[in-house]
Amino acid sequence: MRKKVTLITGASGEVGTALVERLAAEGNRRILAMDVHPEPDNIKGMSTFLQADILDKNLFSRLVAEYEIETIYHLAALLSTRAEFTPETAHRVNVEGTMMLLQMAAEQSAWRGEPVLFMFPSSIAVYGLPDLDTKQRYSRVREWEWNYPTTMYGCNKLYGEMLGSYFNKNYRQLAAERPITLDFRSVRYPGLISAFTVPTGGTSDYASEMIHAAAQNKPYTCFVREGLTIPFMAMPDAVDSILDLANAPRENLRHQVYNVGAFSISAGDIRDLVVKAFPGTEVTFEPDLKRQNIAESWPIDVDDSAARRDWGWEPKFDAVRTFTEYLIPNIKKRYQ
Ligand code: SER
Repeated sequence: MRKKVTLITGASGEVGTALVERLAAEGNRRILAMDVHPEPDNIKGMSTFLQADILDKNLFSRLVAEYEIETIYHLAALLSTRAEFTPETAHRVNVEGTMMLLQMAAEQSAWRGEPVLFMFPSSIAVYGLPDLDTKQRYSRVREWEWNYPTTMYGCNKLYGEMLGSYFNKNYRQLAAERPITLDFRSVRYPGLISAFTVPTGGTSDYASEMIHAAAQNKPYTCFVREGLTIPFMAMPDAVDSILDLANAPRENLRHQVYNVGAFSISAGDIRDLVVKAFPGTEVTFEPDLKRQNIAESWPIDVDDSAARRDWGWEPKFDAVRTFTEYLIPNIKKRYQ
């Protein structure tokens, strides 16, 4: 008999480590975690960990021989800044990797006679507001608005959402009998902030970098202007949102892809909260215009009313709670 598992790709990343920890604590499933990077110390022993590349086709044939994959959290991706330096590699990982996993999940679904649940984190990077005036006018975007990404990562995520929805609704639509296919669900995350990890290769990274620098008593030079505003979310809410959507009854879901919001904040307001928490912190603003343009094309906030209506989404952490109850106590402990 094959072992039933939940597969997490990108398990060594920011969301990955937090998700492995949470699912392991729930203790009711076997976790198969994989990442091209080594297993971080803080999640050692919580899963069966494979250091492997998601583009390795043979790996998946080996995996399905040994495991029955019931649920997939496909987190592996190259983020927005990094992807601009190697767009072809980003496309391979973010698109081809996703396609391979979707195919595997569709085959597994048909084989099991039951849909594999496929969870896909998407991003505010799928939006592309053309200028500041438009950004001000459309300050809370809905899922279908302004889907004109300016980055390879944003294009890849938008296409990943579409591919997943296609597999869910239309895959093999002309077959005499359409096979049972996967159950695809996606959350569009804002910038994420964790007390335990610093992201790599993203454009919203300035928030985390500023906080982690301050906690270590180091000065920080922010690469976007003080007034630049985008939505952010604390990591516990990010994990809650993807798990809440995964656990929602299928019949309640009117969409495949949902915005999830928590709070919208400018870089200057983050600096103020950081200075309040760590007095004496030195933060200066020296915009890198190219990177700033990427973040500037993202909306001020997202309209997440569909998520609230269909599966009861509600963030626990606003900006102040994120700092006072989550970031500061945990970060202080971390750098003590
Ligand atoms: N945090 C991501 C990035 O900056 C956006 O989803 O690339």
